[in-house]
Amino acid sequence: MTSYPKTDALMQRGAQFLGSETAILCGAMSWVSERNLVSAISNAGGFGVIACGAMTTDLLDAEIAATKALTDKPFGVNLITMHPDLFDLIDICAKHEVGHVVLAGGLPPKGSVDAIKEKGAKLICFAPMLALAKKLLRSGADALVIEGSEAGGHIGPVSTSVLAQEILPELSEENLIFVAGGIGRGDMIASYLEMGAAGVQLGTRFACATESIAHPDFKKAFFRAGARDAVASVQLDPRLPVIPVRALKNKGTEEFTAKQREVGLLLDQGSVDMNEAQLRIEHYWAGALRRAVIDGDVENGSLMAGQSVGMVKQEEPVADIIATLMAESEAALERR
Ligand SMILES: Cc1cc2nc3c(=O)[nH]c(=O)nc-3n(C[C@H](O)[C@H](O)[C@H](O)COP(=O)(O)O)c2cc1C
Repeated sequence: MTSYPKTDALMQRGAQFLGSETAILCGAMSWVSERNLVSAISNAGGFGVIACGAMTTDLLDAEIAATKALTDKPFGVNLITMHPDLFDLIDICAKHEVGHVVLAGGLPPKGSVDAIKEKGAKLICFAPMLALAKKLLRSGADALVIEGSEAGGHIGPVSTSVLAQEILPELSEENLIFVAGGIGRGDMIASYLEMGAAGVQLGTRFACATESIAHPDFKKAFFRAGARDAVASVQLDPRLPVIPVRALKNKGTEEFTAKQREVGLLLDQGSVDMNEAQLRIEHYWAGALRRAVIDGDVENGSLMAGQSVGMVKQEEPVADIIATLMAESEAALERR
């Protein structure tokens, strides 16, 4: 893209790695990041990522094939490490020659890094802190995403600005680090690029794009919301270390408290172990997100959204969102 020379220059490494025009990834969002949004992002010069979530191997197989029918540009697949069929899902990605696999939800289980890389794909991992970032790179990750607590969906405890300061100066010269969480404008993209980021990942800003299949009521809730409406879930039971989720506050937020009580009780009774308890919490989120995204139940479903939701004002085509972000970044760099 010639209209954004300064931004393009800073994004060059990241874009080359992804095989896309810009180094802007649309982070995988369960139920939202399916064939339509993913292909639209990649066709518009970004990098789309399919959210596998709890999909079966057959569903993922079909979703990748359908996405390929809509774009000849590269896109990635996000797999959750705790998925019971992780290795079969990796095989499906290999069958379709998916170029980039993103592993989310914790450290890669034994053998998964080799399985992904043996088949020729590049591996992207999430790094929640510097020590783990180094460990993941040593174990074979080709690039990292550092995602701060401003983000929508499952979050870590540290803000994007602190993670960026801790990790970019130390690792970004020799490694590809993408920054995610709380990015709503191109000005912010310019800053992270200047600090050494190879690119950025956004979710909330793309969730309500014209091409997103999210229910109109889900989108309306985003347009109405401000940053302070996107709150992190509270951990009720200290024994049950649930990963916090950032979502718009609604009745579903309270239902999650009740769900934790219910699962805590099952732990007390010894009828489930800790793994099963955590799996039940994750299944709860997947179901609640589906209710909001697909059914449009914005009262009881989960409206996962990051704090940048206040900057999402209307439905716009993906190409316009990317063009706006690039123009804002370029203007910011020109003002320097
Ligand atoms: C509705 C929603 C669903 C998400 N689902 C997933 C997911 O299934 N897997 C994942 O790795 N990240 C998920 N995320 C995180 C995004 O991929 C992305 O990293 C995040 O949205 C970036 O921060 P931002 O929301 O501040 O732009 C989700 C985010 C949202 C808003």
